[in-house]
Amino acid sequence: MTIESKLVAGNWKMNGMRADGAALARALVERAASAGDEIGCELLVCPPATLLETVGGVLAASGIALGGQDCHPASKGAYTGDISAEMLADLGCQYVILGHSERRHGYAETDALVRDKIQGARRADLVAILCVGETQSQRLAGDAVDVVASQLAGSMPDNADAANLVIAYEPVWAIGTGLTATTDDITAMHAEIRTRVPPGTRILYGGSVNPGNAGAILSLAEVDGALVGGASLNADDFWAIARSCPSPLP
Ligand code: PGA
Repeated sequence: MTIESKLVAGNWKMNGMRADGAALARALVERAASAGDEIGCELLVCPPATLLETVGGVLAASGIALGGQDCHPASKGAYTGDISAEMLADLGCQYVILGHSERRHGYAETDALVRDKIQGARRADLVAILCVGETQSQRLAGDAVDVVASQLAGSMPDNADAANLVIAYEPVWAIGTGLTATTDDITAMHAEIRTRVPPGTRILYGGSVNPGNAGAILSLAEVDGALVGGASLNADDFWAIARSCPSPLP
């Protein structure tokens, strides 16, 4: 599979009431409609589960894809508070973010659990966005590549392929901090990741991507898109990031 365009994904995290989500989605749909074919990337938004139906309704036929932020490995059952990949697909999702550092660190999610969730996503025909990334102390100790390699080895199912998997390299120290990895470090890590994933797998960068740094990051040949947190909550900022994608691809 060849990578035909970059993917810019918004991770809204736990933000927004239905009216906020609808307004943000409407603002993106309006921009997408006026840009027509000019926008040189694919767009995805991942709202909280409570907003999926509302946002999905606004996005319908806009070309902007919808994704979830997590799912349970099983398709159904006695798992209070959880949501299955099938339920996300039923709401119109095409993607689901899995193994985000806020879940790995906040809920002690292991690589094995993340792998099971990715299998669940595959069963429901969702593309899994597998997040990996080192902490600041791991980078300072020179262990960044080993940490990411071990997360990939532990959480990527054997049957993963480029059609159902996207990798998001998100250094933990760069998420929500305003710090970003240097373009050299991003290129080096993405090249390492590329040797460990199925050919043609998109590799996104995430961690404080904003309109000011998106151009430099998204023009890197090794970067196939961005996973955007905070800046995706503002339509102008998210749109400016999307417009930073080189078009056509170099
Ligand atoms: P950030 O979040 O852009 O706010 O750093 C990125 C992410 O957590 O995916």
